[in-house]
Amino acid sequence: MNETLAPGLREWLEYLREIGVRELAVGAAREAPQAPVGARAGLAQEDAPEEPAAPRPSRAQCGELFPLAAEATAERDPARGLAEIREELGECTRCRLHQGRTHIVFGVGNPRARMMFVGEGPGADEDAQGEPFVGRAGQKLNEMIRAIGLRREEVYIANVVKCRPPENRAPLPDEIATCAPFLFAQIEAIRPKVIVALGGPAAQTLLGTREGITRIRGRWHAFRGIPVMPTFHPAYLLRQYTPENRRKVWEDLKAARARMDQDP
Ligand code: URA
Repeated sequence: MNETLAPGLREWLEYLREIGVRELAVGAAREAPQAPVGARAGLAQEDAPEEPAAPRPSRAQCGELFPLAAEATAERDPARGLAEIREELGECTRCRLHQGRTHIVFGVGNPRARMMFVGEGPGADEDAQGEPFVGRAGQKLNEMIRAIGLRREEVYIANVVKCRPPENRAPLPDEIATCAPFLFAQIEAIRPKVIVALGGPAAQTLLGTREGITRIRGRWHAFRGIPVMPTFHPAYLLRQYTPENRRKVWEDLKAARARMDQDP
């Protein structure tokens, strides 16, 4: 590998190679591959470890990638930080997903949210409206948020990828690798007290693991010092609306609320 790489970039590229990324789209997007794609984890299968873990550039790398956002974060101005990240994202063509999108779905909510929810990627409704979780899964997520005594406007909601994958397929590793730094920067800007990762891809991306959601949900993990509670995706819950699954999600959400309240 080239010796003149920026500090930290080598590790990141090596990490990408480890998780199976063989190509990165830099600048213009590439053609979509013909490889078969998995069903969206958390939707079809609760435990879909076949989606690889996503890269986790370090905080310093995020600072290099988003210097203005990092400055705003240092000054505890999350709204400005988010605006800088949105500006940097621009009319993104970094990966092939831009080809089929109507709107970029950046994220919504309170820049000073104490709880953040992270999903997988926009579906048709979100693509049409430019806002995450506005379809059926969104109704379920709203119910989940209300169940723990919060309002949608109080939390922040974002996704791992900001453009809708075709046919609602799971985002591919290189798409996640390209888009996740924007999510990570959003998290750094907001610095929530707690993150709820909705479904396998979100949890795997934040935690850098390949473990399926069934195994990792219900236990505390961390993303750069911020507690992360993985739970089932609301769309999965809609499909598998069993008392057992409802109880598990309820336990996870209650734990997230209690953890948030511990840190006023
Ligand atoms: N599913 C997600 O993961 N995110 C959305 O925004 C909508 C559905």
